[in-house]
Amino acid sequence: MSGVRAIVLAAGKGTRMKSTLPKVFHELCGRPMLWWVLCALRDAGADEIVAVISPEMEERFAALGGARGIVQKEQLGTGHALRVALEALPTRRGGRVLVTNGDMPLVTREIFTAALDAVGSGAMALVTLRSGPESSFGRVVRKGNRVERIVEVRDATLDERAIEETNAGIYAIDESAARDVVGRIGNDNAQREYYLTDAVGILAASGAGVAPVLYPEGRDLAGINDRVELAVARQRMNERLCASYMRDGVTIVDPERTYLEPELTIGRDTVIYPNTQIGRLSSIGEGCTIGPNARLSNATVGNRTEIRESVVLDSTIGDGAHVGPFAHIRGESVLADDVRIGNFVELKNARLESGSKASHLSYLGDVTVGEDTNVGAGTITCNFDGKRKNRTTIGKRALIGSNSSLVAPVEIGDDALTGAGSVVTRDVPAGERVAGNPARPLPKK
Ligand code: UD1
Ligand code: CA
Repeated sequence: MSGVRAIVLAAGKGTRMKSTLPKVFHELCGRPMLWWVLCALRDAGADEIVAVISPEMEERFAALGGARGIVQKEQLGTGHALRVALEALPTRRGGRVLVTNGDMPLVTREIFTAALDAVGSGAMALVTLRSGPESSFGRVVRKGNRVERIVEVRDATLDERAIEETNAGIYAIDESAARDVVGRIGNDNAQREYYLTDAVGILAASGAGVAPVLYPEGRDLAGINDRVELAVARQRMNERLCASYMRDGVTIVDPERTYLEPELTIGRDTVIYPNTQIGRLSSIGEGCTIGPNARLSNATVGNRTEIRESVVLDSTIGDGAHVGPFAHIRGESVLADDVRIGNFVELKNARLESGSKASHLSYLGDVTVGEDTNVGAGTITCNFDGKRKNRTTIGKRALIGSNSSLVAPVEIGDDALTGAGSVVTRDVPAGERVAGNPARPLPKK
């Protein structure tokens, strides 16, 4: 959609959030509110996107990327915010501006497009919805069929409050009409603010067309002002995300109890059981079983791998692996294909080659474990000597006895064995068997 300049109003303090974090940076489904709005505007094909922000927001906003921020030094109202934005932007003749509140993360591309289509030859289109009497949204006052003005709840009479049609906070305006009208908005109202909603009354009174676009799905137009509304929106967004992954071939046993983010890769025929959370650009292959009660963040998982009741953070797991129940894998651990990690095993910066196993009650930190090695129950890599973290290296086909303590830095060779309860303080050569505290070579058989 060319010639469309999108302006997001996001500078408000959001006092009802009762937070040090500016409202539009509160997250739902792993992304700030504002991220979702910018995304939908991009999808709608806006060719220039700017956001009106407060001075405190500059740094966070820049980190979000993809849009220009215009600072509104003092938050004097939505009408003032639009004026500040337009003053900072060069005039584009014949263009349209799409203005939207930044606290509406559920708005989709379709809604923006509908507003833009409705401006037509008129001066302005605004998106409206049907709301109940408790709504805090501005009421749309019509005269006959035509929109006459919008009245904010605080300024409304009882009769006006009873009006069901409310203002969503999304406007498409002919740019020259917008430039003209923002200069004419006053602040004679209950909040002493410059209301953008007054533009509707001013344009309507001047005879310029104001087209309402009544949108039937009011839930998608929710403006988030407090944390209760945020939770409701989060649920709705999560429902959408789950639906889209399910349509792509993922089985989600209980979408209401599965928490996903955008931009994940999840392969076909993977089954996700309840109380599972997957985030931060994780990628999961096909035919996997994840959950119940799993948390994955920045995790890369191959095909046909099973992760039950476990936590996987910043780590990579190959194909056909089994993890859990109750494992904790973190710190850039890498598990090759067919690895088995069982109950109460913690891995940190661990590299396990294919077919290796640690099935019960272990801490394996800063370790390399070769192919087909078995790490017995209760094995601990003593990686911290009080000053630095040291590495343990275990070869292929080794047998680490139950309750072994491997005091790093230490190296255990291929086919070596440590007896149950060994405290290994020195390197064990390939094929050697050691036991005891400190571990000593056992007589050759
Ligand atoms: C606004 C509308 C109301 C509508 C509702 C829909 C006005 C006066 N009222 O009310 O009719 O039903 O949205 O959600 O517009 N902002 C700035 N600078 C400011 C003030 C606000 O950028 O000086 C931004 C806020 O960050 C927010 C948006 O504008 O994203 C809307 O402001 P908010 O205070 O939430 O308006 P509402 O009272 O919800
Ligand atoms: Ca609002």
